[in-house]
Amino acid sequence: KKKIGIVTGGGDCPGLNAVIRAIVKAAALQGWESIGIHGGYDGLLTPMKTRPLSIKDMDGLLVRGGTILGTASSGPFSAKTGQGKTRQIDSSILAQAKTNFDRLGLSALVAIGGDGTLTVALQMHEHGWPVVGVPKTIDNDLDATLMTFGFDTAVSCAVDALDRLHSTAQSHDRVMVLEVMGRYAGWIAAQAGLAGGADVILIPEFPFNYDAVCRKINARETEGKLFTLVIVAEGASPAGQDLIAGFANHTDREIRLGGIGEQVAEEIQSRTGKESRCVVLGHLQRGGTPTQFDRQLCTRFGVYAVQMIARNQFGMMAALTGTGIAPVFLADAVDRIRTVPREGELVMTARALGISFGDG
Ligand code: F6P
Repeated sequence: KKKIGIVTGGGDCPGLNAVIRAIVKAAALQGWESIGIHGGYDGLLTPMKTRPLSIKDMDGLLVRGGTILGTASSGPFSAKTGQGKTRQIDSSILAQAKTNFDRLGLSALVAIGGDGTLTVALQMHEHGWPVVGVPKTIDNDLDATLMTFGFDTAVSCAVDALDRLHSTAQSHDRVMVLEVMGRYAGWIAAQAGLAGGADVILIPEFPFNYDAVCRKINARETEGKLFTLVIVAEGASPAGQDLIAGFANHTDREIRLGGIGEQVAEEIQSRTGKESRCVVLGHLQRGGTPTQFDRQLCTRFGVYAVQMIARNQFGMMAALTGTGIAPVFLADAVDRIRTVPREGELVMTARALGISFGDG
């Protein structure tokens, strides 16, 4: 009989509760106990913040946004610097957490999180902890898995916003700019742009230039299309102005990207004379109920995490691969950003429709 700890870390994300539910239910069916760790890994420090999780506690969690365990994206377990570089967690902090982990009688830990949280999980594993991971991030930029949970919900939110902006852009003959999340990779902007009929997609993978963006808007005008939809990832930057690199000496907490959408709308208006407006979707993408796809993915990841523990597959993460859910090494997933391939099918499909990446 095992006793497993569950922790959620980093930014919140739709589906965290659905993963917790799947783990607790699958573990209980094996006769195992589950312990929830509160406020990220900090809940393992003294004084500990933990509580037993029963099947009854899981009622309604499949659809509930956020995380009942709370989360932390800064503090002693912050494993990333401002530019996403890895930092070693203080060994006295790790030792204190391990003492409490052992005191709780835990036989394994499931870490649910993105690059930062799973980097800590890897460091714990390297110090002998029995850890497994579940990949979370709305940005979908984690390596070794085809998809992270939360991404599908974030894309759906962005597509809904584009649909709404489409009708108001058309009514006013305006350029509407939608800024979405995506600090290092443009998956949300690229996929939502395709599904929501954007005319211009600006992502970190393609430094853009305003001449190309305005050429697209003017070309539409010539065709009699008097409105334009632009979707821009928060980490996109005009060629020659690397906004992320500009934050090189700052910590993660100090980075507040925002602002690129507003800059794009202002430049378009001043260069084309067309009325332009910007909407920043922000944390709306991270809240609320997960889509049916994410509910399935979360459930599959959660159940698989329990199976990995049963097989002693520690230091590994549940991943979505071409054939289903499979274990991959945490070391192969973290510390590398999976960006949108510049010559990949997604980009080529968009280009074939005449969508501009502002790089022409
Ligand atoms: O999950 C990553 C992310 O969504 C980024 O795209 C964004 O920059 C960041 O989280 C914002 O997080 P917070 O405001 O919680 O620090």
